[in-house]
Amino acid sequence: MKKTLISLILVLVCLIAINTVHGATYEHEVEAKGVTFAWKVDGDTLHGKVSAKTKGWVAVGFNPTDKMKDGNYILGYVKDGEAEVVDHFGNKSTGHSADDKLGGTSDVTLVGGSEDGGMTTIEFTIPMDSGDKYDSALSADGDTIVLLAFGPDRDSFKPRHRQYAKKTVNLSTGAVK
Ligand code: HEM
Repeated sequence: MKKTLISLILVLVCLIAINTVHGATYEHEVEAKGVTFAWKVDGDTLHGKVSAKTKGWVAVGFNPTDKMKDGNYILGYVKDGEAEVVDHFGNKSTGHSADDKLGGTSDVTLVGGSEDGGMTTIEFTIPMDSGDKYDSALSADGDTIVLLAFGPDRDSFKPRHRQYAKKTVNLSTGAVK
């Protein structure tokens, strides 16, 4: 009986440790032009993971109106083993700025990141609706336009994309159009 209890506790501790190391379990995934975005909607939080073959930035954007304009962008890179992630807004059709530089707030939380064999992965969470006017509120149901992009092999958010793609997804069901 005592042995069974100890085994049970050990299994539980292992499960908690595995979950802590690997973070959120993503439910859905979309891939285009070599960029993969995996996500899970958890109440009022979106857990996201974006990866691509670059040593520079990887990014996901949501709901632009014209090219990059009005989109909410999460960009990240890994420099010397340290991940950095930023919350930007498409203030032009061909450009974007940090929300906090525009007078809004940075609403992205870094969960983790890695750069391995030339592949960069960034994990983050964002609120579905941050209330910041420089983040469009995300809706779990209905259509969400998702932009995927990655930059050249430079740890800087300045150079533009090597590739970009646009998809329409349902964040709740994972359906991709
Ligand atoms: C990091 C700095 C960035 C710069 C300087 C930049 C610049 C530009 C420029 C000049 C264009 C128009 C010319 C072209 O098509 O190449 C463009 C288009 C576009 N960008 Fe960016 N961009 C950046 C980041 C991003 C990010 C992070 C995303 C999405 C996650 C993105 C998505 C797009 C899309 C979808 C278009 C094409 C729109 C269309 O023609 O329909 N860009 N960008």
